[in-house]
Amino acid sequence: MDGMNVSVRGLGKRYGSVRAVNEITLDVRPGEFLSLLGPSGSGKTTLMMMIAGFEMPNAGKIWIGDRDVTDVPPNRRDVGMVFQRYALFPHMTVAENIAFALRMRKVPKHEKARRVADALAMVQLEGYGKRLPNELSGGQQQRVAVARALVFEPPVLLMDEPLGALDKKLREQMQIEIKRLQQRLGVTVIYVTHDQEEAMTMSDRIAVMRDGSLEQIGSPSELYDSPATPFVADFVGKTNFLEGECRQCDGTGLEIGLGHNGFIRIAQCPPTLATAPKPGDKMRLAVRPEQIRMLRAADEDRPALDGVVEAVIFVGSFRTFLVRLAGGDIVHVQTHMGHDISQPGKGDRVSLAIPGKAVHIFPQARC
Ligand SMILES: Nc1ncnc2c1ncn2[C@@H]1O[C@H](COP(=O)(O)OP(=O)(O)OP(=O)(O)O)[C@@H](O)[C@H]1O
Ligand SMILES: [Mg+2]
Repeated sequence: MDGMNVSVRGLGKRYGSVRAVNEITLDVRPGEFLSLLGPSGSGKTTLMMMIAGFEMPNAGKIWIGDRDVTDVPPNRRDVGMVFQRYALFPHMTVAENIAFALRMRKVPKHEKARRVADALAMVQLEGYGKRLPNELSGGQQQRVAVARALVFEPPVLLMDEPLGALDKKLREQMQIEIKRLQQRLGVTVIYVTHDQEEAMTMSDRIAVMRDGSLEQIGSPSELYDSPATPFVADFVGKTNFLEGECRQCDGTGLEIGLGHNGFIRIAQCPPTLATAPKPGDKMRLAVRPEQIRMLRAADEDRPALDGVVEAVIFVGSFRTFLVRLAGGDIVHVQTHMGHDISQPGKGDRVSLAIPGKAVHIFPQARC
């Protein structure tokens, strides 16, 4: 099976006065792994249900391959779906659950048995066909749901938080399995999650959703390195926000006051600002914790923000320092655990240097 493109044009869905999905336009390429990432209620499931054909849009069109499927019933769309809460039929065996999709499509009996066996092998559950769903672990049930969605070899697979119910370790294992399966089969996957790490690990591109609209779409590194809005900066990766005010902007660069916290200087006006700021313009700054350098003492030559370490948190191979700046704001600084024993501890005075290219600046109007 080869993946097909999925195109959504001006797609909208209202429930009474709630705009669940707000005229979204989106092109998913053949064989692409695209994640929809967004907080609860942002319209992810509604968008998926419309693509699958279980919800009718109020506006817009859906194309799969070169076919307008907007008015095509779900079972004729060639789309496999794994639902948010896994929905195996409890009274049917694993094999019957998987065969169900084939029965709906009138596949001959001998062929059916072979395809069920193949699908079970694909998710590494050979020999489990005779069990009932309640005789399987959560992860195994989830794999059956994946096998059931893949058994009729759809060119498009929709997965709505398929790993939501699993513990972290099993989740990570399944992420790798699903990704491997997708690459081997070349199937187009649209994958819903509200876990940004999961989206970063698995996706070719991520579409960030907010209040029924697309906030930004791009590769994981594009979203991480060039977030278009504070919402994306906050939702994809960790970020520090600081409120600033333009002090000066000329050929030598931009100087931003941070109230009592200090000020920073940036060589060039960043692309997130459409026009050069004027003195007095308010702005919001976003800086990733790992891009801040922490010094023991201020370097005379460059502006730095003075602060005091309030806490040190150990996270695997990283350390996160919570530094309280002079103005009272807390900044997270992340460093690799090295052999450097001179890293500061709680109560130590430090000085934070923020490289200009690490700062994303958003005008207040877009915050
Ligand atoms: N059948 C329905 N009737 C009325 N409102 C609905 C219905 N289904 C969804 N909504 C509303 O539409 C909005 C989007 O819901 P949706 O289920 O698409 O969100 P989601 O992004 O999938 O959230 P979650 O991460 O919690 O699953 C929400 O405000 C929700 O309350
Ligand atoms: Mg949902």
